[in-house]
Amino acid sequence: MKGKFSVKIIAIESSCDETAVSIVEDGRKILSNAILSQADMHALYGGVVPEIASRKHIECIAALTEKAFSDAGLKKEDIDAVAVTFAPGLIGALLVGVGFAKSLAFALGKPLIPVHHIRGHIAANYLAFPELEPPFMCLVASGGHSLLIDVKDYTEFEILGSTRDDAAGEAFDKCARVLGLGYPGGAKIDELAKTAGKERYKLPRAHIDGAELDMSFSGLKTAVINLAHRAEQTGQELDRASLAASFCDAVCDTLVPRIIKAAQLAGRNKIAIAGGVAANSFLRERLQKEAKSSKIELFFPPLSLCGDNGAMIAAQGYYEYLRGNTAKSDLNARATLPIDFK
Ligand code: KG4
Ligand code: ZN
Repeated sequence: MKGKFSVKIIAIESSCDETAVSIVEDGRKILSNAILSQADMHALYGGVVPEIASRKHIECIAALTEKAFSDAGLKKEDIDAVAVTFAPGLIGALLVGVGFAKSLAFALGKPLIPVHHIRGHIAANYLAFPELEPPFMCLVASGGHSLLIDVKDYTEFEILGSTRDDAAGEAFDKCARVLGLGYPGGAKIDELAKTAGKERYKLPRAHIDGAELDMSFSGLKTAVINLAHRAEQTGQELDRASLAASFCDAVCDTLVPRIIKAAQLAGRNKIAIAGGVAANSFLRERLQKEAKSSKIELFFPPLSLCGDNGAMIAAQGYYEYLRGNTAKSDLNARATLPIDFK
């Protein structure tokens, strides 16, 4: 759809520690993408402090919305619908976005579209690849989720595998903390690992009997903690870069074969990755190699769209809108909700 028939959606994202407002046309073209990360503030505490997150969201959400309009060169009346992340996430943080989006939709007299955060992460791929359409297999690896999802259609999903304990991003953040890299640590581990030599630490890879697509990262996390503590107690020097690289290898050994297997089992010839961990350079490189040898087409969003942002919510919001998935005025936020909710 082009010209006057195009659909412009403004989306609000506030599920964790990024306040984000974006305007996207027809689910694919970013007109503006305003983001304010609170990560530096939470870094002081070694992780996200929910109450601080909510308070920062409420402070800056209106100004970011003004910025999204002015960056796009649009007026309020140019908008066709208001999308908002309503689940899953930190409840107080979500409520700020939901309350604000509700008021905006009410004031503009436009439909309100509730968007599932993980569906949004998957939709980041639509922004980067205009030709990408379902069905495809998707690996979502973020701070809170590690999922293998069969994307059957824009709003139809089936979970084929998930973590039994920690999410991949959570394990990255914990490992980064142990290595003294601060929060959030995924990108810092990635950078440190790139400087490693050939030496590797022996770290475990978990397999779950009878559930070959499920994952577990808690044993890996504990192994890294134990290694670091032992080194501290015995006064041995820890090769931090090598440990970071060993950790990245172990995460890749868990994620890569599973997403390839999931695609093969479901008969999909396309794989997409999504979520903050999708920014990991080791994961990208390994997946590129494996997908090529398995003759599977691989899609991953640019780094700027891997982490939380409003554009991905607007992109998914467009497809929810096309299917009539709008909310009534009693929309509430949900801390947890499966991606295949009905
Ligand atoms: O998707 P996201 O921005 O937020 C959630 O919805 O959770 O993901 C954040 C997670 C954090 O755990 C962060 O450490 C991780 O993504 N992350 C990375 C990288 N960049 C961000 N993990 C590994 N390698 C990276 N380059
Ligand atoms: Zn996220």
